[in-house]
Amino acid sequence: MHSSNQPLESRVALITGASAGIGLDCALHLASLGAKIILNARREPNLLELAQRLDDQYPTSDHSPRAVVVAGDAADQSVIDEMLTKSAQLGAQTPDIVVVNAGRGLNGSVMTSDTTQWEEMVRTNLLGAARLIRTAGNALVDLQSSRDWPDGGPADLVILGSTVGRHISPFSSMYGSTKFAVNSLAEAARRELGPKGVRVSLIEPGIVKSEFQQVAGYDEHKFGDLMDTISPVLTPMDIARTIGFIISQPAGVHISDAVIRPTRQEYP
Ligand SMILES: NC(=O)c1ccc[n+]([C@@H]2O[C@H](COP(=O)([O-])OP(=O)(O)OC[C@H]3O[C@@H](n4cnc5c(N)ncnc54)[C@H](OP(=O)(O)O)[C@@H]3O)[C@@H](O)[C@H]2O)c1
Repeated sequence: MHSSNQPLESRVALITGASAGIGLDCALHLASLGAKIILNARREPNLLELAQRLDDQYPTSDHSPRAVVVAGDAADQSVIDEMLTKSAQLGAQTPDIVVVNAGRGLNGSVMTSDTTQWEEMVRTNLLGAARLIRTAGNALVDLQSSRDWPDGGPADLVILGSTVGRHISPFSSMYGSTKFAVNSLAEAARRELGPKGVRVSLIEPGIVKSEFQQVAGYDEHKFGDLMDTISPVLTPMDIARTIGFIISQPAGVHISDAVIRPTRQEYP
């Protein structure tokens, strides 16, 4: 049961990549702070199970759903459009928190990485993020223009970049190149949308233990050794708590960039 007066009460969060890792823990954490949640990823059964868990754990006072599901490819414009309109089922014209999180890594450099995975990665990490930033950005600007500033409340676009989107890592340079692009889109969107009352926040994590390493195809032994050397690495909930803190600030306060590393991670 949640109590009233929670920081995200009456807010609706759309989270892509919510079937695992950072997105999943964001869903749990933002719901614990009072938000209703729109869940997206490709694995529908995982999302349905999570939605049920959120409904059970955080029942709403009017018995409307705590969470709804839009399964599908987050880079597909029709899926993005459906994610936005789905907020009607949660009693809101549009989500007022959008977490651009779906993404994947890729082991290796421009010289060594698997070229057959390049297009899918660029599509997911860059084109998908850009389409969602554009679609959600327009919706959030419309929302803010219909409200009093700042008493009408905040509107948030939260974008998952990376420390490898700021510091060149030759060992994962193809993945890093997508995150350099995302980091720059986020700052550009902040300059464009901030004056219209929309906060665009870039989250730049270092190493977070999730499904990411397996999907990227990291060598288990090498990565395991690195994890042992710098342990403890970050958990998805560490990132979720940071995002929860950022979006719980008053509308006129914007923490626009958060770099979060395991304490003993020196680089990148
Ligand atoms: N883990 C790290 O060390 C780290 C560090 C810095 C930044 N990041 C960034 O943080 C974000 C989340 O990573 P994570 O660590 O949570 O990875 P994860 O555990 O692998 O989760 C990735 C999520 O994205 C979803 N996804 C992947 N492709 C998708 C697509 N085309 N459409 C919809 N959903 C898709 C996956 O679900 P489905 O397979 O069900 O679609 C999954 O829910 C990514 O953008 C990543 O680049 C991660």
